[in-house]
Amino acid sequence: MQSKYKAVPPVGIENRTWPDRQITSSPRWCAVDLRDGNQALPNPLTFEQKKEYWRLLLEIGYKEIEVGFPSASKDDYEFTRWLIEAKQVPDDVVISVLAPSRPDLIAKTVESLRGAKRCVVHIYIATSDLHREHVLGKTRPEQIEMLRASIATIKSEAAKYPQTRYELEFSPEEFTDTDMDYGVEVCDFVVDQWNPQGDEKVILNLPATVERRPPNHYADMIELFCRKLKNRARSVISLHAHNDMGCAVAATTLSLQAGGERVEGTLFGHGERTGNVDSIIVALNLQYMGIDTGLNFSKLSHVNEVVTRLTGFTPHPRHPYVGDLVYSAFSGSHQDAIHKCLLKKDAMMETFGQWKIPYLHIDPSDVGRNFEKMIRINSQSGKGGIAHVIESEHGIHLPRWMQNELASRVQVYAEAVAREVSSKELWQLFTETYVNPSPSQLDLVNFWPYPDEKIPSIIQAKVEVSLHGKKQIVEARENGPVAAFVAAVKKLGLPEFTLEHYEESKAGHGSQAEAVTFVQLKGPDGKLAIGVGIHANISQAAVKAITAAINKLLH
Ligand code: KIV
Ligand code: ZN
Repeated sequence: MQSKYKAVPPVGIENRTWPDRQITSSPRWCAVDLRDGNQALPNPLTFEQKKEYWRLLLEIGYKEIEVGFPSASKDDYEFTRWLIEAKQVPDDVVISVLAPSRPDLIAKTVESLRGAKRCVVHIYIATSDLHREHVLGKTRPEQIEMLRASIATIKSEAAKYPQTRYELEFSPEEFTDTDMDYGVEVCDFVVDQWNPQGDEKVILNLPATVERRPPNHYADMIELFCRKLKNRARSVISLHAHNDMGCAVAATTLSLQAGGERVEGTLFGHGERTGNVDSIIVALNLQYMGIDTGLNFSKLSHVNEVVTRLTGFTPHPRHPYVGDLVYSAFSGSHQDAIHKCLLKKDAMMETFGQWKIPYLHIDPSDVGRNFEKMIRINSQSGKGGIAHVIESEHGIHLPRWMQNELASRVQVYAEAVAREVSSKELWQLFTETYVNPSPSQLDLVNFWPYPDEKIPSIIQAKVEVSLHGKKQIVEARENGPVAAFVAAVKKLGLPEFTLEHYEESKAGHGSQAEAVTFVQLKGPDGKLAIGVGIHANISQAAVKAITAAINKLLH
């Protein structure tokens, strides 16, 4: 039986050079959100929403923006007019509008741009045999004739508005499914007909209208096209990739190596079917190769908020750079590595001469994301991750000797609830286990340490407690407040204990910081118990920690 699908034959290029080339400078960026993106939204943008989207594109730094299809849509026509009449287009921004290569639709298209300082008329015709023969029913010479007539009409219509500088963009639609020699012939014809003067160039936009080939084929086609094009020096090679095979970013990136100079795409890849190439990913990938793209995504969460609100689509949680989960680690070993290296991130920067942290492609703060939610806790999490969350949320640096024990408690809890553990729950578990363990048999009511009247290095401690609900006061003298407290409580007839670990630190950040003490006691049967005390006063924090640990020995 004949197979339904076949591999697309290779492009047939010899001695391709693009695999060895490196991208060293930024391409030009053209946002096609308001045209290709908008035409594929179930609920197209309203006039007001387009205004907001437009402002967002300007904020990001786009200098070329395709604003609509005025000959086909009244809304697009009115929006184009509003941009020009309300003087919304900054001097360094060029707007473009799309039209099919049909002379009857050109006049309205050109007129829609009247009054703009500089603008681009973007015409297209589908040059693949599939479209040409089966959809348009045109021969190759007939298509060439349509282009001749369209370009002549653009010129004559543009001459009516001498205050506006009209430039030309041409797309051989379905370029990646078009016979190469025909594609080159058509594009050379267009450039010759337009005949750009001085430093002007015709934008030749070579779309992968439907992604039917692997990304290396797109790059091969771009390199071959550039080699064959007679008018190479009079044109700008523009890439326009759709994402049917999920490879639009790869196709665009490889094709930039192959000669692409300009990228048309949309934010988060909105566009027909699987969408256009996501310009954010392409641009940020370049930025993290050290290339200044001219686009500013340092407030990516804001961009996300606006685009999500206007389009009604939320990016997938694993969408590169922007998804909710893309800076999160759940696995214990990943968390441990991130935690260790973030603690010395400046030194790491110096060692590598660039950002390099395990499991974190970029510094999330560069795109406006903070570190707080980077490590997320579930039953796969490890001690490093848990320590990181406690430290980032509460400013408490946990001693290594308690991290394993806390991690195993968190794991039991996470398995029991069978879901992610929020940082609030983690803190609750921490305080219920170590700071205020219950049931509490020994409650500390008051602790007064004061220096001995005659020997100030000796501390006299008066300790008021409630033991099994009964108030008692015990006193002792030692050479420090903590030792005096321990000596005093030992008079309560409690089971013997020894102090295994004692560590003082601080909780919180800056002037809000409190003292925090971690202790580990060993009971008569070898049982170990950890207690944590948090208090503005360092001695009070210590005795609270000891009291908490004693309570756990009494359980
Ligand atoms: O995908 C495409 O081919 C297009 C053209 C009209 C440029 O959007
Ligand atoms: Zn498109």
